[in-house]
Amino acid sequence: MSDHIETRRSIRHFSKKMVEKEKVMKLLKAAMQAPSAGNQRPWEFLVIEDEDKRRELAGATPHAGPTARAPLAIVMLANEEDLKYPEYWQQDLAAATENLLLRAVDLGLGTVWMGVGPEESVMNYIRKVCNIPASIKPFAIIACGYPVEDKEQNRLLDRYMEERVHFESY
Ligand SMILES: Cc1cc2nc3c(=O)[nH]c(=O)nc-3n(C[C@H](O)[C@H](O)[C@H](O)COP(=O)(O)O)c2cc1C
Repeated sequence: MSDHIETRRSIRHFSKKMVEKEKVMKLLKAAMQAPSAGNQRPWEFLVIEDEDKRRELAGATPHAGPTARAPLAIVMLANEEDLKYPEYWQQDLAAATENLLLRAVDLGLGTVWMGVGPEESVMNYIRKVCNIPASIKPFAIIACGYPVEDKEQNRLLDRYMEERVHFESY
């Protein structure tokens, strides 16, 4: 059993090394393997290497700085058209995002998940920068690259909180 769930950490500083195309494909495949409500799979992905575009995207929120520093950004998107369970698209996207983050650890990559939705103004900013139609919902930006931080990525972290667990009845 791999410990990637325990060792994954948000990485916000990256080397200049580009992420290989095969690895990008593996990240996207992992994301698309996620469970979704009624198997509706509302996700789409925008893969961005272009530095100017990443710099612009980094202005989406005060916390999106890693987008400018990483060699790669993946914008997680939802297409709400024809969904069986439209109210679940955010949960679907969250599952896909976590899959991607965990596969990145497998591949020696670091990532950080930067929240976007449901802030309409932030979604609109990203739509404008990336030429995304109004019907598509930007959910998150994932900055991705080879970590330069000596971060915890290889250290096991235990966040178990006994008091948060209830058995049989709250
Ligand atoms: C919904 C969501 C939004 C987040 N937004 C940001 C963000 O805008 N900028 C950032 O640097 N980190 C962001 N993070 C990363 C969290 O700060 C990070 O996951 C948390 O501090 C725990 O640290 P760890 O990922 O290293 O375990 C976000 C994480 C989630 C799940």
